[in-house]
Amino acid sequence: MNQYSPLDAMAFKGNLTLPKIPESNMALSVLGVFLGLLLEVSTHGPSSVPRSSWKHDDVDLLEFWEPDVFNYTTLLLSEERGVLYVGAREAVYELNMSNVSVKSNRLHWKVPEREKAMCILKGKSKETDCRNYIRVLQVLDEDTLYVCGTYAFQPLCDYLSLQGFSLQDRGEDGRGKCSFDPAQSFTSMMVDGELYSGTAYNFLGSEPIISRSSPSQSLLRTEYSTSWLNEPSFVFADVIREGQDSPDGDDDKIYYFFTEVSVEYEFFGKLLIPRIARVCKGDLGGQRTLQKKWTSFLKAKLVCSMPELNFVFNVVHDVFILKAAHWRDTIIYGVFTSQWGNVGLSAVCAYNMSSVHEVFSKGKFMQKATVEQSHTKWVRFNGIPPSPRPGACISRLNRRQNISSSLQLPDKTLQFVKDHPLLEDPVLPIGNGPRLITKDVNYTQIAVERVQALDGNIYDVIFTGTDKGFLHKSLLVDGEVHTVEEIQLLKNAEPIKTLLLSSRGSRFLYAGSDSGVVQSPTAFCEKNPSCVDCVLARDPYCAWDPRSAACVNIFQQDADRRKLFQSLKGDAGICPPAARLAVSEYRQVLVKPGASVDLSCLVRSNLAQVLWKLDGRVLTEASRFLLLEENGLLIYSVTPEDAGRYECWSVESSAGKNFTRLVMGYTLRLELPENVPSVSASTITPEEGNDGDGSGLTPAHTDAPSLTTPPSVAFKPRSYIPPEVSNVPTRTETLEPSAKQIQDDISVALLLLFLLFFLLFLAALAYNCYKGYLPEPCLRLRAALLGSEKTPPQSEYAECEAGLTEKTDRNGAHPLRPLRDTGYETEPETGNGGVPSSSFEDTSDSPMFDVQSASQSIEYADGDATD
Ligand SMILES: *[C@@H]1O[C@H](CO)[C@@H](O)[C@H](O)[C@H]1NC(C)=O
Ligand SMILES: *[C@@H]1O[C@H](CO)[C@@H](O)[C@H](O)[C@H]1NC(C)=O
Ligand SMILES: *[C@@H]1O[C@H](CO)[C@@H](O)[C@H](O)[C@H]1NC(C)=O
Ligand SMILES: *[C@@H]1O[C@H](CO)[C@@H](O)[C@H](O)[C@H]1NC(C)=O
Ligand SMILES: *[C@@H]1O[C@H](CO)[C@@H](O)[C@H](O)[C@H]1NC(C)=O
Repeated sequence: MNQYSPLDAMAFKGNLTLPKIPESNMALSVLGVFLGLLLEVSTHGPSSVPRSSWKHDDVDLLEFWEPDVFNYTTLLLSEERGVLYVGAREAVYELNMSNVSVKSNRLHWKVPEREKAMCILKGKSKETDCRNYIRVLQVLDEDTLYVCGTYAFQPLCDYLSLQGFSLQDRGEDGRGKCSFDPAQSFTSMMVDGELYSGTAYNFLGSEPIISRSSPSQSLLRTEYSTSWLNEPSFVFADVIREGQDSPDGDDDKIYYFFTEVSVEYEFFGKLLIPRIARVCKGDLGGQRTLQKKWTSFLKAKLVCSMPELNFVFNVVHDVFILKAAHWRDTIIYGVFTSQWGNVGLSAVCAYNMSSVHEVFSKGKFMQKATVEQSHTKWVRFNGIPPSPRPGACISRLNRRQNISSSLQLPDKTLQFVKDHPLLEDPVLPIGNGPRLITKDVNYTQIAVERVQALDGNIYDVIFTGTDKGFLHKSLLVDGEVHTVEEIQLLKNAEPIKTLLLSSRGSRFLYAGSDSGVVQSPTAFCEKNPSCVDCVLARDPYCAWDPRSAACVNIFQQDADRRKLFQSLKGDAGICPPAARLAVSEYRQVLVKPGASVDLSCLVRSNLAQVLWKLDGRVLTEASRFLLLEENGLLIYSVTPEDAGRYECWSVESSAGKNFTRLVMGYTLRLELPENVPSVSASTITPEEGNDGDGSGLTPAHTDAPSLTTPPSVAFKPRSYIPPEVSNVPTRTETLEPSAKQIQDDISVALLLLFLLFFLLFLAALAYNCYKGYLPEPCLRLRAALLGSEKTPPQSEYAECEAGLTEKTDRNGAHPLRPLRDTGYETEPETGNGGVPSSSFEDTSDSPMFDVQSASQSIEYADGDATD
């Protein structure tokens, strides 16, 4: 079962929420609940519409790409050197990080013909697969980068000398360090000269591995077992220096983030689960048990859900770790979607590093139990785990017990961790729910910057990249999400595959995609033309400088910060009063009677309502007025009464106030033909030419205001003027067509009813026939139905019976028995306990996601209490 449908989604939820419903009604009820849920989700939760939308050409972006080079997806920022290294297909670049369009170095790294031929021989495509995709780009030391590429499905690593920008040709086997397949998920991280990777270890990509390779030791890796890794999609890995100033002599840890197929939940098909896993930096593997394998590998479920709605985001796409001076203050940000992509929701959840630590150091283990014959199930381990605690790093206490490395760990501990890598306690998000939910968007990447605004408060500004090449910039103000803007970073609608943030000095974002690299500033303050705009943007980077009369970036400005205007609540009342557009400055528009005219009004805020006034009267209803998409006003067939002063006002609600501004003013005059004498003719002055720039009359409205998000998310209409509809439905329709309609409906209903009864009759007949209640009449009836006097041949009867038997079986005894494709032919004993049970109530004791327990603190096993 690889296709997911809303029904699957509901079945997944069903364990928690649905009462037992007779099977025949199940599908319908489920669908209804699911639809209702979607509506609820879209109106609940911290969702937000971007205030401004910038298209690719609206803003100053710097780009880099070269002809015939693609897949610029591996980025490495070296702020010390002021460069951005880019790994693409068969090329590595060194770019200036202040301007990525300036290339300082370039290295070609192609696959020789012989290797390419081998790859083609193995059935891979010459043009795509059998090339060298650079996937590892890590700093080894001051003069060297460590580089790995897929190298035509034979991963290879090498050292890149920054002096001269060339490879040292020390080709090292890249197995376990880099993926074979360029399309497969992958993550890597260099920590103190050792490379940590999450990838696949074999050509087929079926053997997932979390590994460490170092120059001095052999590869340390995960056990090949579905309880350790079950079809993971690796997303991110990073080190947390928990060993620094640790009172109990703890070790640094490397955290991995991935989505995998769950083993602990019973589900129809593959249920994905986001995970956080960790290993200790000082791990050396075991002596007898777990030789050259991690002795510290543990993983837990990463929860991103809306507990009040039981809605679960179960696929993690990217993680950003916002590091703090002390690791306990570190915050992990992740972007999630639901496994059922058609739901169209993305969420950002944040996790406290302290609670992650708590889960790994004190959480309960899960264990595999055999229920019935072959059916395995994961349940909480309630016994006392061996000591030292399985999966823990070597601490001062262990050293006192003469255990100075993982090699000295007792077999009991090692055997336990080998069989119990999964913790029961989940890692819950801060606030027990998402920070941010966005509709109709698939987020692919995330970066977070912590900034201090002029009010002295700290804000975490969340940058999210989408699968259509857009960037969203959001922050939490007083517990509410505000999306400052959306920017079309990539010209084409393609996914942002990498997103990096530089925060030293000049603040820039770097986005990698298949077609190139884009550099964007983190703020576009200068796009706000007035103080009110600048303040209503509620952008912590921006403030209004009255002296230069400009909206400036506070991090690039030496100006006296006390003299700047900024209010993240959006209280534009703090702005100095601005000069109002004088009537004499209104644009003059001259129109012939009967012609139509289009008055433009550029309002940059998607949150503003626009209203048009004629001589101070709000235009609420008029047959000849039509509000255009971009807030313009179209007047059909102008008459003398339409002449006058037109004003476009924007009303934006912020900080509990309405900020009303005059955006555009027009003076409309009629150009009267000579044969029509008019009293008002005398008032017309010959000042007919528009003021030269011609922008008073705009030919066309081009785009919708919000580039990606239709402003439909619980959002007020932007227009006070209902669009005029020429063909209004009237009450003049004759009765005949509708009467005919009713007649048709009745006959269709009757036909359906008849069909239904007929089917029921057949079913009853077949059932009785099968049960053997009426063997003779059955056959006779059958013959009668077929209009044949011949008795049916015996074989036909047998066929009929067989079919019926099968049918009854499917409807009765074993209604749902999905097959799980494990991908692990070699280890049948790990058989991933996900074999679904035959009914809903079976799983009621193991909820899919125990979101209700969200607020409970972790309970420790008795044996752990002394920890
Ligand atoms: C590389 O880029 C090309 C061109 O955009 C794209 O079609 C292809 O899917 C990319 N390959 C990978 C492995 O990302
Ligand atoms: C993280 O957890 C610690 C300990 O529970 C707490 O002191 C800290 O305030 C939390 N941080 C956040 C951002 O919630
Ligand atoms: C640790 O080893 C030392 C020397 O080998 C020995 O004297 C001591 O008793 C050992 N301590 C423990 C707790 O086993
Ligand atoms: C999100 O991704 C899914 C699956 O790739 C796709 O079906 C859906 O159309 C995307 N939604 C949007 C809004 O791009
Ligand atoms: C702002 O305007 C809206 C719509 O015109 C109105 O419903 C609301 O009451 C106004 N709010 C304030 C604070 O004036």
